[in-house]
Amino acid sequence: MTDRLKIEHLYKVFSDRPEAAMKMLERGANKADVLRETGQVVGLDDVSLSVPAGAMYMIMGLSGSGKSTLARCVNRLNEPSSGQILLDDIDICKLNEAGLRDVRRNRISMVFQHFALLPNRRVVENVEFGLKLRGMSSSERRKRAEQVLEVVGLARWAQKMPHELSGGMRQRVGLARALATDADVLIMDEAFSALDPLIRAEMQDELLRLQRTLNKTILFITHDFQEALKLGTRIAIMSEGKLVREGTPQSIVLQPGSDYVAAFTRDVDRARLFNAGSSMTSLVPMLKRDEFIVLACEGEAGGQAFVIDTDEHVLGTLPAARIAELRDGAPLPPLSAAFACVPTQARLIDVAAKFGRADAIGVTDETGRLVGRLEAGQVLARIGADGANGASHV
Ligand SMILES: Nc1ncnc2c1ncn2[C@@H]1O[C@H](COP(=O)(O)OP(=O)(O)O)[C@@H](O)[C@H]1O
Ligand SMILES: [Mg+2]
Repeated sequence: MTDRLKIEHLYKVFSDRPEAAMKMLERGANKADVLRETGQVVGLDDVSLSVPAGAMYMIMGLSGSGKSTLARCVNRLNEPSSGQILLDDIDICKLNEAGLRDVRRNRISMVFQHFALLPNRRVVENVEFGLKLRGMSSSERRKRAEQVLEVVGLARWAQKMPHELSGGMRQRVGLARALATDADVLIMDEAFSALDPLIRAEMQDELLRLQRTLNKTILFITHDFQEALKLGTRIAIMSEGKLVREGTPQSIVLQPGSDYVAAFTRDVDRARLFNAGSSMTSLVPMLKRDEFIVLACEGEAGGQAFVIDTDEHVLGTLPAARIAELRDGAPLPPLSAAFACVPTQARLIDVAAKFGRADAIGVTDETGRLVGRLEAGQVLARIGADGANGASHV
């Protein structure tokens, strides 16, 4: 996958004279050291990350960890102290004013937590607002604004005034305004954080739904780990201006790597987070005959082997320990039919419900091919003990 946005060794010290602070950071000093010695605040301390095109990339961390500073550096609302930001092949830090204006209007749009609507303009006019700066004609602008209001489910509210809308609807207008610009990168800084839990969950679902068709590259900033897990394809976790962990939601929960990160993962509902594909053991062909193929886990004598026919239909299972007999030429023994198959995307909470009726669970890919196996112990370990003792309390 190509990277849409690439950040390399980005530093931000809030000062006109950051030189001394920068030297300290490069020698390994941290944010607290720099503050003590120079009185200057470190916003970002050597942050590098890559955002693949089409990703929903989450920046997560406690308040003051540098999330907004990072977001604001990307379109230089904050001027980086050093480092590189590449948007495709545009070097953001080297842009002159005209170049920067073009990027802000056409390439990157931002949605903030406290999104300010113009109180005396109708909803549709608020959405049009950013388009005027791009030199669109007024009829084009209106058409575009009405389209995106339709997309975010506010078509009927186009002619209302902002004060007639609920908080959630106003935030939707903010989203509509960002979508209207057609920018392929969207930065959402705590965009849902001020919303009530129910409306917030609705907006999250809405964003996931929109993302399936829009396929934008979204940098989503949040201090809420649950939100990061729900929305993110990847998560970067920040602390004291540093990026301390980066990866897929599942990998971060499984291997937090530090007490700081583990503290966020403690209350995660693993049964909903993990799916069959990320928990299975892969199956490989162990033995082929003209009329059937035996699939089992490599190098493992325990567990169940699956027997499929040449059309890849599962015929049944047998204990993997019996494969050796088949190798010696024995005929296929009676197979157990106590198996079930689930797709790779099946959540473990749904898989767990199948044990009891099935001894073995096969996992199939999107083409219906059997690719893996799950056993009860494996699923229980993943759902339960696994992460809960991943690290001590902070
Ligand atoms: N304009 C500024 N001047 C000085 N310090 C700032 C400024 N903006 C942010 N900071 C400091 O930079 C650090 C990171 O802030 P911020 O990026 O807003 O954190 P977050 O968004 O994760 O809550 C904090 O210590 C904050 O006080
Ligand atoms: Mg912030």
